[in-house]
Amino acid sequence: MFESLQPASTDPILGLIAEYRNDLRPEKIDLGVGVYRTTEGNTPVLQVVKRAEQTLIDEQESKAYIGTAGAADFNAVMQELIFGESSPADRLVTIQAPGGSGSLRVAAGMILRASSAASVWVSEPTWANHAPLLAGAGLSLKSYPYYDALNHVIKADDMLSVLKDAPAGDVVLLHACCHNPSGLDLSNDEWCALTDVIVDRDLIPFIDIAYQGFADGLDEDAFCIRHMAEHVPEMIVSSSCSKNFGLYRDRVGTLSMLAADSAARDVVDSQVNNIVRTIYSVPPDHGAAVVSLILNDAELRSAWVIELAEMRERLKNMRIMLNDALVLRAPKHDFSHLVRATGMFCFLGISAEQVLRLKKDFGIYMVDSSRINVAGITPGNVNYLADSIVATLRGANDEHSPR
Ligand code: LMR
Repeated sequence: MFESLQPASTDPILGLIAEYRNDLRPEKIDLGVGVYRTTEGNTPVLQVVKRAEQTLIDEQESKAYIGTAGAADFNAVMQELIFGESSPADRLVTIQAPGGSGSLRVAAGMILRASSAASVWVSEPTWANHAPLLAGAGLSLKSYPYYDALNHVIKADDMLSVLKDAPAGDVVLLHACCHNPSGLDLSNDEWCALTDVIVDRDLIPFIDIAYQGFADGLDEDAFCIRHMAEHVPEMIVSSSCSKNFGLYRDRVGTLSMLAADSAARDVVDSQVNNIVRTIYSVPPDHGAAVVSLILNDAELRSAWVIELAEMRERLKNMRIMLNDALVLRAPKHDFSHLVRATGMFCFLGISAEQVLRLKKDFGIYMVDSSRINVAGITPGNVNYLADSIVATLRGANDEHSPR
């Protein structure tokens, strides 16, 4: 059977992890996969997570199954974190999911069951795994314009005009904040205008919130979700705790669905649990139990908010630092979009050939599209990084010799 298979292509993001690890150059810099790093270049377990894990070890009494929807206390507190205190809870279902990707996969199953003819519209560009994941589940995809790569701005007008022509019942996948890969988000006014189009055209918003708290703050970053929940009859929200709780490998997320009324909500609830049973049966518990302990304890919750703010501020500072270093070396080149973007990512705005050259000649790793993870920048490597980028832009090696 297996001899008929050809090797699959390497994942454009995860493939960089092994390449970087195998590079022996001490000056190498990893701007690839989206994980947070400290000034020292580490991705430590958050202190508040360590504390909650200790409590779990001391107090957890059973590892018996928790059921397809996961833990009720986790789901309730996550629903409040995402939708706010005045969420339309009687129309909402929230289940625990194995990370943002697991949530997206279950959501794809729900869309297929509810409306197999619907297309899902994704931003151009979008996270490199959105299309493989959703199309792999059987959905058909279309794209709407989003990022103007020449001027490094969002094409909000083009986006709205394309979506105005989308067939009723189609699904629109949106990034709530820290758009991956561009780092540029709609303004609140633009979110409101988009909500009007969604309501007028009878479209279903499907919001991916993987970086809540990394742009402006926990409530600010959920604006579009809370605004849409007030205006649309139905919506889907996939969330991830990988970044804001640093729980990447523990796979923690949620899938929420807003139904038109509470009777429809109950049907959605039964269907989604049925889908979970046919994919992974029950979600992993550990990370969600940690998040629940943190969010349900006032003291742990404030400690988490402080650690989250520290991560957010560091990302912002590294953007400023890299922009300053580049302006100094290449004053005629405009890199200001680095500081206009928020969260982990933005495009450097260089060609795939230049990306390759940065890797080959300087040991600097990023996704082919020139998406960089700004968490890989530190005060210790920013000058080398800026020197290397400028040398690559000039097409010369300067003092760094190719290897
Ligand atoms: C990223 O975009 O780098 C992260 O979301 C990690 C991933 O799974 O791709």
